[in-house]
Amino acid sequence: MRVLVSGGAGYIGSHTVVHLVAAGHDVVIVDSFANSKPAVIGRLEALTGRHLPVHAFDLTDRDKTERLFGDESFDAVVHFAGLKAVGESARIPLDYYENNLDATFSLVRAMRRHGVKLLVFSSSATVYGEQAPLPYREDYAPLQSSSPYGRTKVMIEQVLTDVAAADPSMRFALLRYFNPVGTHPSGTIGEDPQDIPNNLMPFLAQVAVGRRDKLIVFGDDYPTDDGTCERDYIHVEDLAAGHVAALGRLTTTNSPVSVWNLGTGRGTSVLELVHAFERAVGRELPYEIGPRRPGDLPRSWADPGRAHAELGWSTTKSVDDMCADTWRWQSANPMGYEG
Ligand code: NAD
Ligand code: WQD
Repeated sequence: MRVLVSGGAGYIGSHTVVHLVAAGHDVVIVDSFANSKPAVIGRLEALTGRHLPVHAFDLTDRDKTERLFGDESFDAVVHFAGLKAVGESARIPLDYYENNLDATFSLVRAMRRHGVKLLVFSSSATVYGEQAPLPYREDYAPLQSSSPYGRTKVMIEQVLTDVAAADPSMRFALLRYFNPVGTHPSGTIGEDPQDIPNNLMPFLAQVAVGRRDKLIVFGDDYPTDDGTCERDYIHVEDLAAGHVAALGRLTTTNSPVSVWNLGTGRGTSVLELVHAFERAVGRELPYEIGPRRPGDLPRSWADPGRAHAELGWSTTKSVDDMCADTWRWQSANPMGYEG
């Protein structure tokens, strides 16, 4: 299939591009580079051995989006483009609602005008909110989220569900990612936060490479085995493979909307992840226990049973793999793509 990958220069999008090409798809990227670097494209071309067409514009621009769909033909869209920082979304909520919703509106309008039926959307475990029982299952309702960022995901899931109800020939996959970490095993592409990392793994990687003094562990008084929060970390390579599987399934399913959790089904605590990263690096890393971060849930993990059954997909990589690959990327690229 000829697949338009929105946000294909970003962390998860870039890894998925490699998997889509390996599965035989023709990939076209659209990205504003609002949170990514053009240098990733050369790395992707080296990894895939392909020329990858790139359209550098902001998808909230409806005219440009419409022109792209007029000039080229696509069989499917994999839609990663969006702003994703939870804390920032509380400071500039309008920017988050505008960017994430408008980009989706432009894309889906252009798809409908040009007869493109298949869309895979990057949703998030954050849509389960604070009340859902563990493990999180796709049939849980009502969805809610504690941040404006998370609410853009809840809203977009709802918008896509309404669009599919009005036109049941559409096929939408809503993929709820848990905590994506890790990098391509080559160490040539990876996660390259533009500022101080918000997330645990990239922060830890920057501590290990000497860009940050120490990790602050946000609280050790949670009701968990070691007192630190537990999360379902999923290797980005497994996540990327989940997109290829979901896209394949959209071509055969009769359901206009499919929702799949992409997680391992296992929780790992902050301290367990720190120690796994220390094993990957081969030395101890400086950390200290700090106060809780507001909004953090003690525990979160997926029930990935539906994705196993319906996509024939399951995760293959361990927490040690996640840390070893992240360290290969970070140590080879201490300052990221432009270091
Ligand atoms: P990322 O920031 O690395 O990638 C997103 C890409 O989209 C960037 O390259 C950015 O430049 C681009 N972009 C943003 N707004 C755009 C717009 N209006 N037009 C064109 N391009 C635009 O983020 P990521 O970690 O790769 O996440 C990809 C998607 O997965 C996002 O939608 C994110 O919300 C979702 N997600 C991420 C995580 C995570 O922890 N990384 C977890 C769950 C869901
Ligand atoms: C993991 C654990 C922190 C940094 C976020 C979003 C979620 C999804 C994935 C997009 C927590 C602890 C972290 C640090 C720490 N994204 N931590 N010190 O919060 O589970 O999920 O990313 O959809 O919506 O909320 O991930 O990596 O920020 O935190 O102790 O410097 O690490 O308290 O327990 P989180 P995270």
